[in-house]
Amino acid sequence: MKVAIFGLGYVGFTAACCIASQGHEVVGVDVSDAKIADVNAGRPPFEEPGLAEMMAAQLAAGRLSATSSVADAIAGATVAVVCVGTPSGIDGAHDMRYIVDVSRQIASALAGGGAAGPRLTVAYRSTMRPGSIRKLIAPIFRAQIGEGWQARAELVYNPEFLREAQAIQDYFQPSKIVVGTVDGQPCAAMEALHEGIEAPVFVTGYEEAELTKFVDNSWHAVKVAFANEIGRVCERLDVSARMIHQIFVADTKLNISPYYTRPGGAFGGSCLPKDVRALQHIATDAGANAHLIDSLLRSNEAHKNHQFQQIVAGLAPGARVLIAGLAFKAGTDDLRESPNVDIARKLIEAGFAVSIFDPGLQPAKLRGQNLGYAYTHLPSIDTLLVDQAVAQAGPWDLVVASNATARLLDLTGRRVIETHTIR
Ligand SMILES: NC(=O)c1ccc[n+]([C@@H]2O[C@H](COP(=O)([O-])OP(=O)(O)OC[C@H]3O[C@@H](n4cnc5c(N)ncnc54)[C@H](O)[C@@H]3O)[C@@H](O)[C@H]2O)c1
Repeated sequence: MKVAIFGLGYVGFTAACCIASQGHEVVGVDVSDAKIADVNAGRPPFEEPGLAEMMAAQLAAGRLSATSSVADAIAGATVAVVCVGTPSGIDGAHDMRYIVDVSRQIASALAGGGAAGPRLTVAYRSTMRPGSIRKLIAPIFRAQIGEGWQARAELVYNPEFLREAQAIQDYFQPSKIVVGTVDGQPCAAMEALHEGIEAPVFVTGYEEAELTKFVDNSWHAVKVAFANEIGRVCERLDVSARMIHQIFVADTKLNISPYYTRPGGAFGGSCLPKDVRALQHIATDAGANAHLIDSLLRSNEAHKNHQFQQIVAGLAPGARVLIAGLAFKAGTDDLRESPNVDIARKLIEAGFAVSIFDPGLQPAKLRGQNLGYAYTHLPSIDTLLVDQAVAQAGPWDLVVASNATARLLDLTGRRVIETHTIR
């Protein structure tokens, strides 16, 4: 098929060469005449291992060319891939001017006819914030082509995950392929474009596909910043960072794994907050200035406040709330730094009628720090606890299912908010 690539930068030109090498006819478009001249003359527009050879082979095979004419590029094309830049604006948001320009150009060329089939698949690979396709780009196509524009253009978001210096390898062996479509249903043209590439494929709505890239990049940044903070702490304490790293990555059960990555409840319990606090102290004391580690407890508090706001939204003053599960983990009576204790305390302070169902908990049996924590934060804990029969039958306006204890109750027909699991 014929593929038009808009933007012959790192992403676009790598894609152009790789797609041509798969036997497709590729026409690249750029606003830079110099880049177009370079490509047509066989000079790669930038350095990337293996790309010059690939480019030469595809030019020789007659499958690769560049033009400044949008109409020529999309004439007879099945797919247009948009890879123009989205640099940072002064406020940190992406500067979308190139996206707007290129979208207007493609839509207006389409309005004049051109693509191979009844409609052109326009796949955006530039990184852009959630809502860009639906709220910015689709209206441009509607304005240029008119009502019924969807019969002429199919908009797709297909984030790019390649790393410079390994761009060709990443094109053919990506960590994943994500395709965002208007209805979350597969897109035939994108399936054809990715044919022969082995990778997990996720077909989703626009916004999920758009956000994915930010989540990935921010996570990578978190990993690098965290690694360097630990490295600084090690250096200051004269501990081997190499050995710490080796031990850390060897744990593929809890450390390098999906564990602890699912959005849900705040962290708490007797170990995590205590040890994060201690590492914060160790790092500060050693002069390692670990700002990411410093931010963890504040982030966790912000999450507890967020969940509290979700719980009270729509609740009448004085409403009756059952908290199902007070301990940090169901089946234990460890209340130390349980986020559920915080939620209970905040609800009581806000004037709601709180009851607690937690069969693992007998206040008379609490000891030591656990006892101190429970009575400091919930002085009235003895009077708040209800048994299973009351929990099941009570006149609750809301049940907060804060750990697996809630599974002991039949909550059919109840208004329930789960704080420990993904929404
Ligand atoms: N570079 C990377 O490693 C990488 C990886 C993943 C995603 N991305 C994202 O991909 C996008 C492109 O990145 P890049 O590094 O290739 O950018 P780049 O700046 O190297 O290239 C962008 C190209 O688009 C061209 N362009 C601008 N307006 C145009 C128009 N109207 N029509 C045709 N061409 C036009 C520019 O002249 C330039 O050649 C960005 O959104 C970036 O965030 C980049």
